[in-house]
Amino acid sequence: MRILVTGGCGFIGSNFIRYLLSCHPEHEIINLDKLTYAGNLHNLEGISGHPNYRFVQGDIAESSVLEPVFEGKIDGVIHFAAESHVDRSIEDAMAFVHTNVVGTYQLLNFAKRYKVDRFLHISTDEVYGELGSRGTFTEDSPIKPNSPYAASKASSDLMAKAFFRTHHLPVIITRCSNNYGPYQFPEKLIPLMITRAMQDLPLPVYGDGQNVRDWIYVMDHCEALVRVFFEGKEGEIYNIGGDGERTNLQVVNAILDYMGKPRSLITFVKDRPGHDFRYAMDYTKIKKALGWEPKVLFEEGIRGTVDWYRNNRSWWESILNGTYRAVGSVNTGPEK
Ligand SMILES: NC(=O)c1ccc[n+]([C@@H]2O[C@H](COP(=O)([O-])OP(=O)(O)OC[C@H]3O[C@@H](n4cnc5c(N)ncnc54)[C@H](O)[C@@H]3O)[C@@H](O)[C@H]2O)c1
Repeated sequence: MRILVTGGCGFIGSNFIRYLLSCHPEHEIINLDKLTYAGNLHNLEGISGHPNYRFVQGDIAESSVLEPVFEGKIDGVIHFAAESHVDRSIEDAMAFVHTNVVGTYQLLNFAKRYKVDRFLHISTDEVYGELGSRGTFTEDSPIKPNSPYAASKASSDLMAKAFFRTHHLPVIITRCSNNYGPYQFPEKLIPLMITRAMQDLPLPVYGDGQNVRDWIYVMDHCEALVRVFFEGKEGEIYNIGGDGERTNLQVVNAILDYMGKPRSLITFVKDRPGHDFRYAMDYTKIKKALGWEPKVLFEEGIRGTVDWYRNNRSWWESILNGTYRAVGSVNTGPEK
């Protein structure tokens, strides 16, 4: 099978490509990535020479980029490419509309035109909005996004569903909770806290730190995606959760404790506007239908993640000091 993976140089996409090539080396992978500030070619070092892997730099919203890729015959699409940071979407959501809405529409359109056999659209629990202190999201929960990021992802989910219903495009949607693990860009909560703690810098925590997220180790997510892509049912939505509900403060404390750093590094800062209180996923459907459930406990995953950032200091330092700059990136650090 020839599989187009979009956004494969980002956090989840790069972990996914590495995993897919290790368990299904017979499939051919084309990784289409624009290399925005979040895309990093170093995330796939060691893979670039694989005989069944090819990288194409380009924007999923551009027909001139998609045309030659689809002309080469694509059997399946796994769509990760997105603008993904809520805080950036609050500052300016134009890039989110461009990639998450227009880009997804373009991909769906090309997939329809070239009759792909499967289109896996990767989405997020954030499309459901927020929960109070009880309850969980099921696949039937209403879509009630709050941040511009979540609204752009919800728009792309609705367009993907419409292409299934109207055009019979074989779409499947997954909605996953918060991921953590190796290669996550150091603007997101867990790598931000780890890398700042490693430098003995203050750790900014929004509000009172009581917002709750369900954390899933990235490899558990990747395993679920492989299961859904090959065995899932067209037209369905599958929730993916980690059984890892923690307040932000509990997450930061766990990191500091494992690193042997003082909790006095924590500084509470003004809350994020529109900050969702809690997300929690009911993943009964994927468990019953496909036999998937998360394996990595939060405590184990967080230790592995801290160790990875310790052992790969040059990876994140080169991002923070601007010496890594992706080709075509908006990260305008000095190039050396
Ligand atoms: N990180 C999470 O916790 C999480 C949870 C649930 C779902 N998701 C979803 O998973 C997907 C991947 O998330 P991530 O955390 O790996 O994101 P990321 O920001 O780390 O990576 C995004 C990748 O997409 C690429 N990209 C951006 N715009 C593009 C464009 N116009 N054309 C081609 N490539 C483009 C970037 O260069 C980057 O490599 C996203 O769709 C996100 O909504 C993420």
